[in-house]
Amino acid sequence: MIGTANGARVAITGIGAHVPERVLTNDELSTMMDTSDEWIVERTGIRERRIAAPEEALSDLSLPAAREALEEAGVAGSDVDLVIVATVTPDMAFPATAAILADQLGAHDAGAYDLSAGCTGFMYALVQAYGMLAGGLSERALVVGGDVLSKIMDWTDRRTSVLFGDGAGAVVLERVPEAGFLGFELGADGSGGSQLYLPAGGSRTPASAESVADRLHFVQMNGREVFKFATRVLVSSAEAVLAECGRTIEDVDVYVPHQANVRIIEYARKKLGIAEDRVVVDVDRFGNTSSGSIPLALADAKREGRLQAGRLVLMTGMGAGLTWGSGLIEWTDGGRR
Ligand code: ACO
Repeated sequence: MIGTANGARVAITGIGAHVPERVLTNDELSTMMDTSDEWIVERTGIRERRIAAPEEALSDLSLPAAREALEEAGVAGSDVDLVIVATVTPDMAFPATAAILADQLGAHDAGAYDLSAGCTGFMYALVQAYGMLAGGLSERALVVGGDVLSKIMDWTDRRTSVLFGDGAGAVVLERVPEAGFLGFELGADGSGGSQLYLPAGGSRTPASAESVADRLHFVQMNGREVFKFATRVLVSSAEAVLAECGRTIEDVDVYVPHQANVRIIEYARKKLGIAEDRVVVDVDRFGNTSSGSIPLALADAKREGRLQAGRLVLMTGMGAGLTWGSGLIEWTDGGRR
């Protein structure tokens, strides 16, 4: 799916982020399993990640992120009429974490649902919210991307557990007079689903004593295949959305790729031809936070003063599904309507 955002102008008017307090360093990991700081930094660029407390669930990370985004936008929770939470680790299978969050925010007139598209979830959710605002169905949307992947990691598996971390980010979307989203591309290749998946807990393999004993409630990944896929789609999806919008890579001021691995980001950056100082990287501090990755990176860029009006921001996500998605935004500092 690809297209220009040629309906009403819609922009991000507020950003927030939240990560758990607990920092898990590579050195600490190497006391838990056969790994080392050297191996993890060389292969992934990750130095530390945040890990939720036992009692902390997705809504606990999402609520402070959402409040920060609403405050920046100057929007009351009760004025939000759409809440989408992109995640693969909701508080529970149902009710939706979005419904829990809407209630906590006082968004009592909002439609609220969760969306699952692996690490690309935030991009998918942005496109949906854009469509509902541009189509006049929604006035103010809250889009949250977040995951608590530490709860579905096999902490005896060094091939997966060192890569991921917990965190959530949130954005407010509103109609604006000009600028904002320019276009999107979304894709999925279900034939690659078994490269990155959670085997049990759904209707195919419900929870059972056997599924627990066989460790089927933890993430399984073919790292090399995911690496090849990630490097390919980060480039192809970015090029597709730029071409669709009549822009070139030279026009991009801020590049926000999915934060899975510094080597993947570096490969895409060079292949696309983007200068190093235009790329946002925080995977060294947070690891791969799945649906939280792009909004956390956007929040970092905002804190660093990189999201100035008129700047062109390119975001590309990819992940389980296999899925991918890009969005291009001309940043604007408001003038909502
Ligand atoms: N510490 C030490 N050694 C390790 C570790 C570890 N944590 N993990 C694997 N190894 C070992 C392997 O066992 C292997 O040893 P062997 O040769 O004796 O068998 C050796 O290191 C090399 O393993 P490879 O898998 O070939 O290592 P590679 O260079 O491919 O790096 C990695 C592995 C980092 C997982 C890489 O494949 C990768 O980044 N893949 C993409 C993963 C990813 O980003 N997934 C998420 C993206 S999508 C989403 O966000 C949901």
